Amino acid sequence: MNVLVVGGAGYIGSHMVRILDREGHTPIVLDNLCDGHRESVVGHKLIVGELSDRELVDSILSENKIEAVMHFAAFAQVGESVVNPAKYYVNNVMATIDLLESMRANDVKKFVFSSTCATYGEPETVPISENEKQEPVNPYGFTKLVIERALDDYAAAYGFSFAALRYFNAAGASPDGDIGEDHDPETHLIPIVLQVALGQREHITIYGDDYETPDGTCIRDYIHVDDLGAAHLTALEKLEPGKGIKLNLGTGNGYSVREVIDACRQISGKEIPEVMGKRRAGDPPKLVANAAAAKELLGWVPRYQKVEDVVETAWAWHQSHPNGYKSE
Ligand code: UFG
Repeated sequence: MNVLVVGGAGYIGSHMVRILDREGHTPIVLDNLCDGHRESVVGHKLIVGELSDRELVDSILSENKIEAVMHFAAFAQVGESVVNPAKYYVNNVMATIDLLESMRANDVKKFVFSSTCATYGEPETVPISENEKQEPVNPYGFTKLVIERALDDYAAAYGFSFAALRYFNAAGASPDGDIGEDHDPETHLIPIVLQVALGQREHITIYGDDYETPDGTCIRDYIHVDDLGAAHLTALEKLEPGKGIKLNLGTGNGYSVREVIDACRQISGKEIPEVMGKRRAGDPPKLVANAAAAKELLGWVPRYQKVEDVVETAWAWHQSHPNGYKSE
């Protein structure tokens, strides 16, 4: 299948491109390279341009005989979305609706959408199932929820088929060490801790140890990027006209910030100094997936169950690319 991968030069998108290629599909990447990296999609067709450029997207869909679209091109920083919500509404909502409109005009109706556990806000029940109420507590989560709702309506009215996949914490790197996580600035826990291990930062600041969790630090569910990619592939193959599926993608295993730092110490063999900081605004104490529905519907079981295994792949990437893609 010819699949347009929007944001395919980004962290999760670039791993998806490889999986599609490996499984006999033809990925075509559209990326504006504002966060993505040309080096992450070497050997694949990359079109550099804006998602909001309707003429461009129309021509890509028709000229490449696109049958399905996977959409990874979103801004995804909770804190930034609070300070600069316009950036999130313009890109994550408006440009995504433009994309859906272009798909509708070109009769492309298969869509796999990157949603997030941030759509749940502060969940009442953890592990979180898909039936949990969706009340996002920041603009980022809300922009993703808006698109989930739009997709329901596009499926009912226009026969779209979609999968909205609600990621927990994407982490890790390709096991061959070729591609991995490279954000600027980096805000995510595992890459920051590994940068400390490499001596690029002096310490890791833990954002609070006064949460109601066993060791007082926040608990998250770290899901390997290739496991996310595998779920997308199966979801794509299961799409049915007029129907949508919404699934959590996580391991179901929660790890505290302290446990993640310890896993990084164990894997890297480095000391990794830590400093206790204040809570970061908007961090829920515990986000862990109930991923039973993805298992049942897609037969999807993450290969990387333990955070140590995820960290091992990330460590290999950070060691071979200490400055990210810039070092190539
Ligand atoms: N953390 C630290 N120190 C750091 C960085 C992070 O203690 O320097 C902590 C955070 O407070 C949090 C945990 O490590 O408890 C994980 O933080 P990340 O920034 O790696 O990830 P988030 O859980 O904040 O964010 C992820 C996705 C978002 C998504 C969000 C949903 O990256 O896109 O989950 O809540 F919106």
